Amino acid sequence: AATPDLAGRRVVISAGGTREPLDPVRYLGNHSSGKQGYALARTAQARGAEVTLVAANTALPAPAGVTVEPVGSAEELRAAMRKAAAEADAVVMAAAVADFRPANPVGQKIKKRDGVDPDPIALVRNPDILAELSAARRPGQVVVGFAAETENVLAGGRAKLARKGCDLLVVNQVGGGLAFGTDENEAVILAADGDETPVPLGPKEALADRVWDAVVRRLPTP
Ligand code: PMT
Repeated sequence: AATPDLAGRRVVISAGGTREPLDPVRYLGNHSSGKQGYALARTAQARGAEVTLVAANTALPAPAGVTVEPVGSAEELRAAMRKAAAEADAVVMAAAVADFRPANPVGQKIKKRDGVDPDPIALVRNPDILAELSAARRPGQVVVGFAAETENVLAGGRAKLARKGCDLLVVNQVGGGLAFGTDENEAVILAADGDETPVPLGPKEALADRVWDAVVRRLPTP
């Protein structure tokens, strides 16, 4: 059995990918399955934490003993995370959040018109939820982000850690069959205090446990 080093701690984790509606039947989305976020939820629960999992568009079984809150868009994910984070000792943003959403979603299905070219899709920026959660963190709360990079992985991760203001940032390479939808992941856990911990390719649970190790080391003693 796992060491109960998260007993008495509340953690909130986001998983999956947001969907930004264009009309009632279409959306802009991404390939996140939620597997990495669910692995974080299962391992935290096994280590004794009280776990809230904010799940964006996942098709995975709810982990036993975990409170799951389903959401759709980035705005919904933001509201659920802000609420749960207010009571949490640690916050982990493993969800893939759309940076932009359609500016003018419509209430009825967009029709194809004969001989007429489609209108371009205008986009507006979504709020940066991780940056907001970092800025609003309670004393002693540990905030963890993920970074999905297709190139210059470490440099991109270090830049994101500084920009988002979180305590830990887990940088993983995506694209070409990596990370999205797979059962295994490889990453480097970057810390604002300068620590950098490489985690070799292995089950998403193994990476999740290394993330919790890094969180536990930074939580104030209860
Ligand atoms: O779900 P799986 O199939 O298991 O795949 C796992 C994963 C690849 C999705 C996961 O490991 C991962 O990398 N998640 C983060 C994906 C992401 O959105 O990365 P990003 O580099 O675009 O964003 C950086 C961080 O800011 C993330 O913590 C993200 O949640 C957060 N963010 C991004 C945009 C935004 N508007 N608000 C945010 O809070």
